[in-house]
Formats: sequence, C-alpha cells, structure tokens
Amino acid sequence: MINYVLIILLIVLASPAHADVETGRQLFQEKKCRLCHRVENPGTVFKPICPGLKGVKARHSEEWLARWLKDPARVWKEGGPDVEDINRRFFEYRGRKPGPRESFMATIIGKQVVLTDEEIRHLIDYLKTL
Ligand code: HEC
Repeated sequence: MINYVLIILLIVLASPAHADVETGRQLFQEKKCRLCHRVENPGTVFKPICPGLKGVKARHSEEWLARWLKDPARVWKEGGPDVEDINRRFFEYRGRKPGPRESFMATIIGKQVVLTDEEIRHLIDYLKTL
C-alpha cells in the first residue's frame, strides 16, 4: 500500500505539468502580474483596477490567452467576443455604460514585460489552476 502511494507521489512530482504550474506561479510574481491581478477574485471584481483571475480558464481559450499575453495591444485592437466580455465586466463593475477604452494591460505589459513563448506556456498552465 505504502509503495503505491510513493509511486503515485513520484509520478505527480516528476510530471512536467506539475513543474509548469510551479514555474508559472513564480513567473506570475516575477513578471509583475500580481501587481495588477488578484488570483482570489472573480473576473467581475476589478480591484485595484484589473479583473480578478479566478476561473479565468472558463472565460478564454488557451489559444486566446497565448495571443493576449504575447501582444495585448494587438488583441485589444482586433476586438472580438473575449475583449467585449472584459469590457462589459469592466463597465458593469464601475456602474457605467459600456464604451470604447484603451487596454490598460497593453500599456504596461506591451512596453515593459516581454514574455517568451515558453514563459507564456508556463503562465497559462498556472492560470488554468485558478
Ligand atoms: C498594469 C496592470 C497589469 C499587469 C501588470 C498585468 N495585467 Fe493582465 N490585465 C490587466 C487589465 C486592466 C486587464 C483587462 C483588459 C485591459 O484593460 O487591458 C487584464 C486582463 C488580463 C486577462 C484576462 C482576464 C479576464 O478576466 O478576462 C488575463 C488572463 C491577464 N490579464 C493575465 C495577466 C498576466 C499573466 C500578467 C503577467 C504576465 C498580467 N496579466 C499583467 C492589467 C494588468
């Protein structure tokens, strides 16, 4: 019995998925995501000004997340249902009528934080656990 437990534990610890989540969690700190996002808040709560990331995997596909983290300015400009959904939540939280606005994340991330494709994969693995 103990042997089985040990083997399962080893498999879990050695699996790359586990490593990716941990790396993603670290990157989330290092790359300043934490400054703006609260992982314990839902996406309808914009505190201090950005959406909480709890349950974010239900709001966006992995493909969209990868494009967003790579180049938020471009994704924001292209628009589409994911961007509209963020905007709707943003204005609802502020109690205002929806209208055009700049992406706040793009102004910071796009200019100061450049993520490699590998870092983006790790970050997405972490985001999927929230
Ligand atoms: C300067 C503040 C800021 C930083 C730093 C930041 N974000 Fe954001 N993020 C935002 C804002 C604001 C939005 C909403 C769209 C917008 O206005 O740009 C957003 C949207 C998102 C979304 C979509 C959330 C949803 O509920 O639909 C994800 C996912 C995300 N950011 C992940 C990250 C990750 C990962 C990092 C770190 C690499 C990061 N963000 C760094 C401000 C920031």
